[in-house]
Amino acid sequence: MSSIDEIKARIDIVDLASEAGVKLRRSGRTQTGFCPFHSNTRTPAFVIWPETGTWKCFGECNDGGDIFKFVMKKDGIDFKEALQRLAERAGIQLEDLHSLKPEQKEENQRLRNLLEDAVTFYRHQLLNTPAGKIALNYLLEKRKLNMQTIENFGLGYAPHSWDAALNYFKGKNYSEQDILDVGLLAERDSGGHYDKFRHRIMIPIRDENSKMTGFGGRILDPNDIPKFMNSPQTVLFDKGRLLYGLDRARKPIRAADQAVIVEGYLDVIAVHQAGYENIVSPMGTALTEDQIRLLKKFTRKIVLALDPDAAGQKAVLRGLDAARASMDREEELRFDARGLLRHEARLQADLRVASMPDDLDPDEIVARDPQEWARLIENAKPIVAHVLDVLLAGQDINDPKVKSEAVSQVMPLIEDLPDPVERDSYRQMLARRLKVDERTLIGTRAPVSPVRRQRPKSLETSDQKSVPAPVVRYKIVEVSCLALLLRRPDLLPHLDRRLQESGLAALSALDFEYTDHQLILRLIQQSLEQDESEQAHFVEALLDDSLRETHTSLLSQRPPKGADDVLLDELTRQVLQVRQQSLNESVNQLRFMIEDAQQAGQVRVTNYQQLMLQYGRMLNRLDEARRKLIEYRRK
Ligand code: UTP
Ligand code: MN
Repeated sequence: MSSIDEIKARIDIVDLASEAGVKLRRSGRTQTGFCPFHSNTRTPAFVIWPETGTWKCFGECNDGGDIFKFVMKKDGIDFKEALQRLAERAGIQLEDLHSLKPEQKEENQRLRNLLEDAVTFYRHQLLNTPAGKIALNYLLEKRKLNMQTIENFGLGYAPHSWDAALNYFKGKNYSEQDILDVGLLAERDSGGHYDKFRHRIMIPIRDENSKMTGFGGRILDPNDIPKFMNSPQTVLFDKGRLLYGLDRARKPIRAADQAVIVEGYLDVIAVHQAGYENIVSPMGTALTEDQIRLLKKFTRKIVLALDPDAAGQKAVLRGLDAARASMDREEELRFDARGLLRHEARLQADLRVASMPDDLDPDEIVARDPQEWARLIENAKPIVAHVLDVLLAGQDINDPKVKSEAVSQVMPLIEDLPDPVERDSYRQMLARRLKVDERTLIGTRAPVSPVRRQRPKSLETSDQKSVPAPVVRYKIVEVSCLALLLRRPDLLPHLDRRLQESGLAALSALDFEYTDHQLILRLIQQSLEQDESEQAHFVEALLDDSLRETHTSLLSQRPPKGADDVLLDELTRQVLQVRQQSLNESVNQLRFMIEDAQQAGQVRVTNYQQLMLQYGRMLNRLDEARRKLIEYRRK
């Protein structure tokens, strides 16, 4: 689900309107009140459809829309700002969108420039100094990277010195504070600063928009510790919200509709060099929900290619007890099955696990046989299946003790799944694997770990499920119509001509109820008014970051198949249906309101009656157009 959809799902238009002072009264499926946008105390012309999260004023403003439009209109702000406010209210993190104060922006830019200069500095050390030669040889010989890759990833070398970077950047007129703030210096106990990164391979870490955020530094001397040193948390570097390599991987991820996550920076680089470019890594921590959300802008299919130690027995067992681990220890789990399953369900992602064979890291796999990589990823398994495999590996599944142990480990994971269909299918899988009767699995519970609250046996829900996954409220035709247009913008002029031939208006953004859809349609329309770039590219290029996820999820809709005229028919049908739905809703509502007003002894309902007539005429025209379309198809 995109962040926008999540916001739509979590924020109730009824709450927004009530907070804006609208006193609402329920009538059937709608709620009505006085419109907050114009003064009127006679007729309650403002209507809300809670199910679809939409509203409309049948009075003076004759306007309507979704929650975003409501806030935009009420506070006089644009979509982006409305999105930000509502995201905050819904408790949803929106990357990129945080509007910074100008001073903050300026400072960030200065710090980024410093980091870019640092990339150049470390690269110079790697390529042009005798000491760098050792590092370069390590990369070329030991890690089998080529010069092109070293260049692409901007790799460098931090010299064996306490003040080389410090002096260099001071010489370039950066303040010591700035050099400290980007994380290149450490503080002496006695006051003063020294170079944090010494005698290390320097790996620039950029965000998904290629902006510099920090560095990872790998040791060259095996006796040094730690093996990897990252920039400290800075204003620019927030490791739980970054994925290494995403700047280079975002396009390939979208193209492959799949992202692969490995554990190490050097794995990202090596696998990329081997030709698999849809690859990223977290920075030595377990995968966070923010990171999955970030990837979900580009795909919902995510494969975790885990090192054997993380994917293996111990990690899985530890991961199964994640609830306890996360309470008792600070140490982070690289593989936490339960946590991952929750992220997966909440974010509606598709997470799979590929485990690396023969104790090899991904970089060693691609060095051995690049094709093998593709096979391993292809065979990635759902998390629950992976856990079961690991638990049963090398065990005698005819041993009743093994069976019951496996059941008690895996069943809690299965019961945590929010989707009942999925729960059933995993229960079946487990029963098959263990050769037990599936019915014996129902009602099985895990041994209760200290922090896990026990649930009443009769309840089929876990703590998780008592918070139902939010449901998006949207109109299905509106979505499929826009999805088709995104794929085939060239159909739009034909659609418009057809509509006009039937005496109907051309498609307009106002035909759509949701602000994000309206904005995307406008972009599609603009893309047709230019001929400099291909329409789809134009849309992608001009698309605001806030709409990326919606765009991706629209493109992931399965498009209807057929020749152009079939698609055009389909599109026309969809548009007619969108209009019909909205008119029908309005007509039903008006009927209610007229009755209400008449009962209350009001006679001033002529406005509503006129609207009714107008809508009725429009519905007739739509019907006619629909009939024509059917005849057209028969011919
Ligand atoms: P590994 O120790 O598995 O290293 O850590 P690696 O990626 O296989 O490195 P090579 O192949 O020996 O060079 C995996 C990842 O965990 C993080 C780094 O992101 C590393 O790439 N890590 C590891 C740290 O952040 N700090 C450490 O001390 C170790
Ligand atoms: Mn490795």
